[in-house]
Amino acid sequence: MGLEMFSLQGKIAVVTGGGRGLGRAIAEGFAEAGADVVLVARTQAQLDAAARHIEGLGRRAHPVAADVTKRRDVEHVVAEAVQRFGQIDILANVAGMNIEGPSAEQTEEDWDAVLAVNLKGCYLGCQTVGRHMIERGGGRIINMSSIGGLIGIARNSAYTAAKAGIIMLSRSLAVEWARYRINVNALCPGYFITDINRDYFASESGQAFIKRFIPLRRTGQIEEIKGAAIFLASPASNFMTGSALVIDGGQTAW
Ligand SMILES: NC(=O)c1ccc[n+]([C@@H]2O[C@H](COP(=O)([O-])OP(=O)(O)OC[C@H]3O[C@@H](n4cnc5c(N)ncnc54)[C@H](OP(=O)(O)O)[C@@H]3O)[C@@H](O)[C@H]2O)c1
Repeated sequence: MGLEMFSLQGKIAVVTGGGRGLGRAIAEGFAEAGADVVLVARTQAQLDAAARHIEGLGRRAHPVAADVTKRRDVEHVVAEAVQRFGQIDILANVAGMNIEGPSAEQTEEDWDAVLAVNLKGCYLGCQTVGRHMIERGGGRIINMSSIGGLIGIARNSAYTAAKAGIIMLSRSLAVEWARYRINVNALCPGYFITDINRDYFASESGQAFIKRFIPLRRTGQIEEIKGAAIFLASPASNFMTGSALVIDGGQTAW
C-alpha cells in the first residue's frame, strides 16, 4: 500500500476553526493529501484567505461562516457541504477558545462560553455530521482536545473540563458508531504558537516554562499538527477509534 495509505484523494473534509491557527493548518494538510475542504469559522475574511490558499494547491475549498455553538448554523454547514460536494467523509472539529483566570473568580458566563465553543460545538458537529455519515455508511471524525484534557492546568479549569469532555465524547461515539464504520478519535496537542497563546510564550515566564516542562525544549510548529490529522483521517489509521493521540514534545511523558 505504501504512502497511498495516507492519501485523502477524492475525500470531502469539513474543518471547523479552519480560518486560522491549527484548524487552518489541518485543512491545508487535508488538501495537500488530496481532499477538498469546507472551511468553517465566524470570520469570513479569514475563511476566504484560507480557501484561496487551498485552491492554490489545486483542491476545491468552500468557506462557510458559522458559529459552532448554534445548531442551525451547524446544520447549514452540513447542507452547504452536501450541496457543494455531495458528501462528507471527514469531520475535524477544531474550533475552540479559552478564557483563562483564577477559578475562584471565574464567572458563570465565562464557564458557559468556554464549554459552549469547545464541548457543545464539538457535540453539535459530531451529531449533525454523524447523522450524514451513518446514512452514508462511514466516515472519520477528529475532535480537537488538548493535553489539557489529560492533565490539570491551573487557571484553566473550564478549558480542561471541556477538553476532557471531548475525549470522552469521542470514546463514547467511537463505541456507539463503530457499527456504522465511523472512526472517532481525539487529538491532544501540547503547545503550538497561535493567537490563543502567542503573548504568553513570548514572555519571560513562557520561555522559562518551555525549558522546564517540554522535553523537546520548544513549542510545536503549526505545520507539525498536519501529520497526525492526516493519519487519523486516512486509511493508515483504519483500526484506530476511540483514541486520544498526543502531540506535545514529550510534555506529558513524565
Ligand atoms: N494552540 C495550541 O497550543 C493548542 C493546544 C491544544 C489544543 N488547541 C486547540 O486547537 C484548536 C485551535 O486552536 P488555535 O490555537 O489554532 O486557536 P485560534 O488560532 O484562536 O483558532 C481558533 C479557531 O476557532 C474558530 N472559532 C472560535 N470560536 C468559534 C465559534 N463559536 N464558531 C466557529 N468557529 C469558532 C476561530 O474562528 P472565528 O473566531 O473566526 O470564529 C478560529 O478559526 C482549539 O480547539 C484549541 O483549544 C490548541
